[in-house]
Amino acid sequence: MNVTSPAPTLPSPRGRISAAVIECLRGTGPLPDGRLVSAAAPLGDDLQLALYVCYELHYRGFADTDIDREWDPELLKVRAALEQPFLRTLRDAATVHKHAEEALDELLVEPVDGSGVSHFLRDEGELWQVREYAAQRSLYHLKEADPHAWVLPRLWGRAKAGMAAVEFDEFGGGRADRVHARLFADLMADLDLDTTYGHWLDATGAEALAAVNLMSLFGLHRALRGALVGHFAAVEITSSPGSRRLAQAMRRTGAGPAAEHFYDEHVGADAVHEQVVRREVVGGLLEEEPYLDGDVAFGVDATTYLEDRLAEHLLGAWRAGESSLRMPVRPAFRSRTGSPGSGETGDEAL
Ligand SMILES: [Fe+2]
Ligand SMILES: [Fe+2]
Repeated sequence: MNVTSPAPTLPSPRGRISAAVIECLRGTGPLPDGRLVSAAAPLGDDLQLALYVCYELHYRGFADTDIDREWDPELLKVRAALEQPFLRTLRDAATVHKHAEEALDELLVEPVDGSGVSHFLRDEGELWQVREYAAQRSLYHLKEADPHAWVLPRLWGRAKAGMAAVEFDEFGGGRADRVHARLFADLMADLDLDTTYGHWLDATGAEALAAVNLMSLFGLHRALRGALVGHFAAVEITSSPGSRRLAQAMRRTGAGPAAEHFYDEHVGADAVHEQVVRREVVGGLLEEEPYLDGDVAFGVDATTYLEDRLAEHLLGAWRAGESSLRMPVRPAFRSRTGSPGSGETGDEAL
């Protein structure tokens, strides 16, 4: 299993903006014109992929890109131009709550007859849908907790201590085999999915890219530290019940022991993380910097908004019997896996 691959290669473009960013990183073309960026759909494939590529330079980068491009001032200007419409759209479309407490309280209310992705996978999901879900989520889970680590130098006191405690768990508590990103790679191996970091980028749609870009946006800007904390709180609060349903989905579909373990681990761990994040991280931050209350609420709301969009995309495709990916997943070795609309055989594009 290749989980130590240092860097993926640059993806295929999805429009003129992402094409220009990728060509520029290859050293074969200029950066995109500002007018192109302002005319693009903020949540569309082209802008989201271009932004994802810019952000990836701050994680592991790309094997075919010079490492120094991370701090290329012209590229950073383009990144800022891409971030503005993304952030503006989120502020306009996602903002519901003014205060962190209201936003977080609402997350604690679990609908009796929930209809999200985890409910679907638990109740009626097939193994091919579980595999697609894992492929879509891999862009986040293979860098799980990384963007949140950027906030640590920007926090102080209880917020910093609480955040560090949760991150310590996410990073395996000192054990490489327990790093959550590693546990997710093990889940993917159970599902016969390629575990190489970044492998699924070309197959992943704008909805899942936007959810990852949100974390990078919040993590890389000190001005958005309140939103990053809100995002982290939203993830931790919703993770435990969602993970319970996904663990049931893994068992019911026979995904495998590592797949079950990833979600079982999160049922218990995130029930604790939720308390620490809410009391220490959010509570500590707002004690130090009460004016960030609205930003924490915005981080929660933006997370919910993008997760809802992703869920709508996944469920829409699956209910139509179609793949949710831009390229189909190669059928698993195991005959019980199957793929959409093709029984036990399918396209081998990936
Ligand atoms: Fe985790
Ligand atoms: Fe967690």
